[in-house]
Amino acid sequence: MKAITVEPHKPGTARLEDIPEPDARGGSVLVEAIAVGVCGTDVEIVEGKYGWAPEGKTRLVLGHESLGRVIDPGPSSSFKRGDLVVGIVRRPDPVPCPNCAVGEWDMCRNGQYTERGIKQIDGFMSERWRSEPEYAVKVDPSLGLLGVLLEPTTVVTKAWEQVLAVGQRAFWVPETVLVTGAGPIGLLAALIGKLQGLEVHVLDRVESGAKPDLVRALGATYHSGSVADVGFQPDVIVECTGVGQVIGDSVKAVAAGGVVCLTGVGSGGRTVGLNTADVASNVVLRNNVVVGSVNANKRHWYRAGRVLARADHAWLARLISRCEPPAAFTHALARQPDDIKVVVQFADA
Ligand code: BGC
Repeated sequence: MKAITVEPHKPGTARLEDIPEPDARGGSVLVEAIAVGVCGTDVEIVEGKYGWAPEGKTRLVLGHESLGRVIDPGPSSSFKRGDLVVGIVRRPDPVPCPNCAVGEWDMCRNGQYTERGIKQIDGFMSERWRSEPEYAVKVDPSLGLLGVLLEPTTVVTKAWEQVLAVGQRAFWVPETVLVTGAGPIGLLAALIGKLQGLEVHVLDRVESGAKPDLVRALGATYHSGSVADVGFQPDVIVECTGVGQVIGDSVKAVAAGGVVCLTGVGSGGRTVGLNTADVASNVVLRNNVVVGSVNANKRHWYRAGRVLARADHAWLARLISRCEPPAAFTHALARQPDDIKVVVQFADA
């Protein structure tokens, strides 16, 4: 079968190639791939900056934002042939650490977790893949291709859970949220903010196009420019750019008692002239919390499924800005100005 594979930490090694059918040890549920979303992590892996091949192998099947159709549910699952499913990305570490032991693998303490398509387990960019029944999640059939948005929605669902958990440390009734970055993660964070009844603001660099339109269609306010210019102090900032300047500005701009949740994984960039002690005093004197959030556990996968099922499907469909066939995966990985979520499409939904 065809698969998109890469040799991690070796730039320029990604290719579409024939590999053997998925090994039965990968789980009893056999799935036909429909689509796999592409994100910044995939680009980093292809550029040789991130990613790990399975033990004893040199190449990794790429892709962690899956959507597929069950071909064979196997002997012990509640799935039926034809069900739409997505595969959970992370597996607990084998020790296990206390968090992995209770199913909170997204909070793994020892870093020995594995991740499909990222860290030591093959991903979903192959014509067929397998999953253990407990790591496959059924998707509402009405979503069709939109089910490919489930994985990024889980990441944002977890981030919001972190924000609200932190908020419980004191009396706190948040009213406003600023989301920085109007990519898929930012737009999905804005969607969840709206579903919670908050006043939602989204900031990005672009002044026109799909991003501002999507923000307005959600009933939220769009800002272009810098966080310092939004003109109010948000109770919550969900930071989805990973850009140093935006992060620094966010920590300064959040309201007293507010929470800044960092979801973007950036690196390098321009050094921002922030004085750490000054930033810290600002955080101390205003009881702010800066919390990082990565990945998601099963609770978030189920909640995210509900978010997508409840959301306006026409709005969600506008997030998928491009579908490319597997043979054009290089094209899928190359960002174009109007891209929001690009997917590699293996079959019709
Ligand atoms: C994925 C997460 C993963 C993280 C770090 C993100 O792109 O969505 O599931 O934990 O990368 O590897």
